[in-house]
Amino acid sequence: MSSIDYSEKIPNNVNLSEDRTLQRALEHWQPNYLQWWNDMGPDGSQNFDVYLRTAISVDPQGWAQFGHVKMPDYRWGIFLNPGEQDRKIHFGDHKGEAVWQDVPGEYRANLRRIIVTQGDTEPASVEQQRHLGLTCPSQYDLRNLFQVNVEEGRHLWAMVYLLHRYFGRDGREEAEALLERNSGNADNPRILQAFNEKTPDWLSFFMFTYFTDRDGKFQLCALAESSFDPLARTTKFMLTEEAHHMFVGESGISRVIQRTVNAMNELKTDDVTKLRAAGVIDLPTIQRYINFHYSVTIDLFGADESSNAATFYSTGLKGRYEEGKRVDDHLLKGQTYKVLNVVGDKLVEKEVPMLNALNEVLRDDYITDSRAGVERWNRVIEKAGISVKLTVPHKAFHRNIGALSGAKIAPDGRVVSEQEWSKRVNEWLPSDEDRAYVGSLMGRVVEPGKFANWIAPPVMGVNRQPVDFEYVRFN
Ligand SMILES: [Fe+2]
Ligand SMILES: [Fe+2]
Repeated sequence: MSSIDYSEKIPNNVNLSEDRTLQRALEHWQPNYLQWWNDMGPDGSQNFDVYLRTAISVDPQGWAQFGHVKMPDYRWGIFLNPGEQDRKIHFGDHKGEAVWQDVPGEYRANLRRIIVTQGDTEPASVEQQRHLGLTCPSQYDLRNLFQVNVEEGRHLWAMVYLLHRYFGRDGREEAEALLERNSGNADNPRILQAFNEKTPDWLSFFMFTYFTDRDGKFQLCALAESSFDPLARTTKFMLTEEAHHMFVGESGISRVIQRTVNAMNELKTDDVTKLRAAGVIDLPTIQRYINFHYSVTIDLFGADESSNAATFYSTGLKGRYEEGKRVDDHLLKGQTYKVLNVVGDKLVEKEVPMLNALNEVLRDDYITDSRAGVERWNRVIEKAGISVKLTVPHKAFHRNIGALSGAKIAPDGRVVSEQEWSKRVNEWLPSDEDRAYVGSLMGRVVEPGKFANWIAPPVMGVNRQPVDFEYVRFN
């Protein structure tokens, strides 16, 4: 079951060849996907040989094989984690029943919506990142960007397989639409707002992979609990790939910080003008990028009170993060959770039914996880003997969804006046000037082992290769 058949047009471990209709439908979608990859995938890079890892099996030891391939030849396919014998639904109203191998009619619309929303983010991020290869800080980073891109493409395949296999004609139409919407397109945008924002520079890319791919992790973890077993098994395999994306973000930011603190020590200054003259990214700018990406990303969890969230949980479609490790009744009826509201000039907590607050529960789990990486960045600063600390802003800061939407809250959680907000917003969020400065640093460095001035080299190369390995062969 877990070995992947690569002799097939579509590599898979789901015995695709035994279902001719499905196989034909997916083989019909495949050229449209490749066309989309050509039009909207990495700009001007289709002919490069890139040192990529490809899944060869879903076993813990054997799923990553490294070698140089041209991205359009990457073996995108359909890989599910092996099924668990006698798996039981372990939360919600159906708790204790057998998991579903098919979609129950009454949950069809909701499940389709969940899968389409998840699926839409995958190609969206490829589109958002498509120009970054032109300004890569090194070959190592270029290769990592492309690795993330091809895997997001595979995640699209994962969701498209479910749509084709379990949702009939509606599913096929949704699969087409996933290739038709485009990030930032005024007429046909991607579903979620954060996936219509630009990823204009590499600092944004690292922030995106640290913060926004981590949202992906939490959504996938919640879906990995699903009573719809094929969804659970698909998302479990996606999570193994997602870990690398967050690594790219965390280590990327860490290397930017390393370079900056080195320059601060060499020049014995924390003066932003001097540091910018030296061509590094000052810590206040890094803090503002954190504030932006963090706040935009926590909006992705949705409204703090949501009857949909309650329905998705009670009907067993979407669990909590690490549902299986929690010790409660996994029904949550009659329990409460605290959400925030603005009352006058104060943030106040309000107790609401926990089932309705499950978006907030997932957001809070995400927040804990995000903070841990920021602390690791702080250790880089601390080691350099510099007393600055980076933080994530208060969760009410710069929100655009739910009860806090549009409220004027400072990063420290104070409710502020319109005047104070407009006076200080450039201290809190990246200004046009910050973005222009970061943009001005983005040149293309592709000589093996060379790195742009604003970022330190990584500690190690990819797959134990040296840092100056030829990760990308330009043809
Ligand atoms: Fe993904
Ligand atoms: Fe990702």
